Amino acid sequence: MNTDVTWFKNAVFYEAHIRSFCDSNGDGKGDLPGLTSKLDYLQELGIDCLWLLPMFPSPLNDDGYDIADYHNIHPDYGTVEDFKTLISEAHARGIRVIADLVLNHTSDQHPWFVESRKSKDNPYRDYYVWSPTDQKYKDARIIFVDTERSNWTLDETTGEYYWHRFYASQPDLNYDNPVVADTMIDVLKYWMDMGIDGFRADAVPYLFEREGTNCENLPETHAYLQRVRRVLDEDYPGAILLGEANQWPWDLRPYFGGDENDPTVPGNEFHMAFHFPVMPRIFKALKLGDATDVLDIMSKTPSIPENCQWCVFLRNHDELTLEMVTTEDRQLMWNLYAPDEQMKLNLGIRRRLAPLLDNDRRKIELANSILFTLPGAPIIYYGDEIGMGDNISLFDRNGVRTPMQWNAEPGAGFSTAKPWAPVIDNNEYGYQKINVAAQQADPRSLWHLMKHFIATRKANPVLGWGSCEFLSPGNNAVLAYLRQTGDAALLAVHNLTDRPQPARFNLPDFAGVTPTDVLTGQEFSPLDSSAALTLQPYQYLWLRLK
Ligand code: GLC
Repeated sequence: MNTDVTWFKNAVFYEAHIRSFCDSNGDGKGDLPGLTSKLDYLQELGIDCLWLLPMFPSPLNDDGYDIADYHNIHPDYGTVEDFKTLISEAHARGIRVIADLVLNHTSDQHPWFVESRKSKDNPYRDYYVWSPTDQKYKDARIIFVDTERSNWTLDETTGEYYWHRFYASQPDLNYDNPVVADTMIDVLKYWMDMGIDGFRADAVPYLFEREGTNCENLPETHAYLQRVRRVLDEDYPGAILLGEANQWPWDLRPYFGGDENDPTVPGNEFHMAFHFPVMPRIFKALKLGDATDVLDIMSKTPSIPENCQWCVFLRNHDELTLEMVTTEDRQLMWNLYAPDEQMKLNLGIRRRLAPLLDNDRRKIELANSILFTLPGAPIIYYGDEIGMGDNISLFDRNGVRTPMQWNAEPGAGFSTAKPWAPVIDNNEYGYQKINVAAQQADPRSLWHLMKHFIATRKANPVLGWGSCEFLSPGNNAVLAYLRQTGDAALLAVHNLTDRPQPARFNLPDFAGVTPTDVLTGQEFSPLDSSAALTLQPYQYLWLRLK
């Protein structure tokens, strides 16, 4: 394992749902030993870091994001020993592992809340946010709009309301209570001491509440997160915090800390944050054949400290969120990508990548090419490397969390028992057709291409470290940007349409250079001070200029 503390700058991440990855003991639910048995697969694919969805004891009202015990493993998944084995086996293969850290809330089954709700003078009362009325913090939005009517729920026992930003079964912890603030740092240390490489920090904007604000991104929240960061820096150098803050770029910037005017000042909050706003704009650009919105949001994305990195993604375990678009664009995206009512959830779309892109290999490749070349470290959602389908008839977000399709055997190689959720079994995306074994055997498969994207990305550190200049190719249908470090330059070019498109570039600094596509090795004719080319439908190029 390399010990470089900036390892994440050019890393490729992979998000896995333990419940759906591989079942080792034939109970129909994926588990830690199952995941461990698939580490060779992940190593072969070439990923650097695995992000595990929550693995703690939980009633699973929110698929594990409702934690009932921060110090154990969900019995479906195995034991703490199994977890340690996963970590050491991953490290032996050069793969880092980050876990989900759910700071904002617990399950209502957590012993703290069970106590807290008993009486107003219970010693745990102040672990949560209670109020005699539901009229406080009126400016805080509701996140799960499909199911929750209020962020307050009345608890009969004491006749008071408790605060929750997500499901009512997920009461928010009270970070104004110093005992809570300290205790959650102990939770972090507990898992760090087991050897993990950091955390994906869940739902961080909502830690504190203040009257007269929208209760998001408050200064108190940043101060606490900086404290969390200090613990990591002091005791666990090289470990990272990847923040989940579904916010506009200018509200995301403070999560990196440092100095907004000087990127050489090191960040002191999150090492990484998901770039939420660019994601839906990639889908919009692909559908409309127009790069404008991607360019617009990237131009509004502030620079971040040099020791920090964005994390870019196309899909994850949640709905494709449309929180960071205008009301009109949300409607447009629903019209374009959620023709069936059942595809909508909250302010998003609960579909997987391949179905969103009409299972059109050209579009899937193009979207991934953008993912792998934009500023930031890319993250792949399990199953998207083989173009898995979804099942919108399943509850909540389960339709995008179905069992991994390993082979064409019954149970898809995921389990010998009846899986916890049905394996995708239809003509287009069924496990008989879409599975790892079949794609590994076919050199032209999406899986092989994804492996090639990963390897090529890692062989070109300019994609992790380089600056990014968006170019004007004289044609909105073409998305093009120049990534540069002192000694390398790579021009990424994407035709967003199904028609040939001309593009023209002014690149006086590179006159005389022979561009080579690092994906195919194809050489182009030497550049003049300007260059013109015609891109084939959905064509993408990663042109090395230096
Ligand atoms: C995050 C998770 C999501 C979960 C929510 C509440 O947004 O990604 O799955 O429901 O937090 O914990």
